[in-house]
Amino acid sequence: MKIAFFEIEGWEKEIVEKELKSHEVFYTKEALVPENAEKYQDFEIVSVFVHSILRKETLAKFKNLKMIATRSAGYDHIDIDFCKQNKIAVYRVPDYGAHVIAEHALALLLTAVKNIPQAIEKTRKGIFNYQGLRGYELKDKTIGIVGTGRIGKHMITFSKALGMNVVAYDAYPDEDFAKKYEFDYIDLEKLLSVSDIISLHVPLLPSTYHLINRKNLSLLKKGVIIINTARGEIIETEALIEGLEKGIISFACLDVIEKEREFAKFQKTLRAGEVLPDSTEYKTFLLNYYLFTHPRVFVTPHNAFNTHEAVRRIVQISVENILNFLKGDRTTLFVNIVETFAKH
Ligand code: NAI
Repeated sequence: MKIAFFEIEGWEKEIVEKELKSHEVFYTKEALVPENAEKYQDFEIVSVFVHSILRKETLAKFKNLKMIATRSAGYDHIDIDFCKQNKIAVYRVPDYGAHVIAEHALALLLTAVKNIPQAIEKTRKGIFNYQGLRGYELKDKTIGIVGTGRIGKHMITFSKALGMNVVAYDAYPDEDFAKKYEFDYIDLEKLLSVSDIISLHVPLLPSTYHLINRKNLSLLKKGVIIINTARGEIIETEALIEGLEKGIISFACLDVIEKEREFAKFQKTLRAGEVLPDSTEYKTFLLNYYLFTHPRVFVTPHNAFNTHEAVRRIVQISVENILNFLKGDRTTLFVNIVETFAKH
């Protein structure tokens, strides 16, 4: 089979080459997007990362695509319905280490409440005093976890270890887990109103799009801290900004922003001095810039997964997925995706 790896780095290539040595594999640093898809139309298996946009306009250009191995847990960059209709097998990597994302969410939270960036900025300037750096404690605060799947569960155990009270919301509560870790499931509205900190761990689906929005903003407890390491579109950016301006939200800790793929493209076009298309959505981009520079907002560039250990596991599992597919083992095919889609 003709296999192509997109968005690949040198060290990843070494792993893939070793594991797929008996196959013909093509490597490129490019993402697979509608503009270049025709060039790759003969490949039967493609492995991509999240910057490849595998919607109908890309996928329809392939003549004989049989399998997609995305090197990610998230799959909102892939048109699953199109794949199902056209019998394209999709594999993802749901379990490369959910703790990694929870660690990052916690790191962002501690960054905010302990004033870490401001403190380091001071000492870098040679100023060694704690004026203006008084922070907050996490112990005894209530954290609301939205989505208690793999990542949410880790966030719950970390929060418990820090002496926080946990409440959670999930469309499919795991009561055994709740019993074991002594927390309650409550509905979303209640969670929004009782939480000092809210951490989002749901996938982006029609049912989670703008889950926090201008309508339910008023339910939030004054001074709440919002953490989003899931997907930018789960929070309506305008609501976040309104919440910050009105003092409802004290800090926002974000690893994801709305329209982040388009944002990177927008910046590239701007830098190149090219004319932006009429359809460009300026508003969200400007709101994102506002967030980047806001003193009570801490943004990392979709970096939560990015540890030396996790990225190696991602490549290794993706190669295993391809090998499983090639030998006819379909046990990991669509499994988690089917579960999620069946539920919602
Ligand atoms: P998971 O599938 O294990 O858990 C998701 C949970 O959300 C499930 O318990 C499900 O029942 C719940 N859920 C789904 N729709 C819901 C709704 N409408 N209302 C309430 N609950 C709902 O997923 P996992 O592994 O915990 O990942 C969560 C998300 O984190 C991923 O979908 C991805 O978008 C994001 N992610 C971000 C990364 C980053 O680098 N920032 C890396 C990996 C994942």
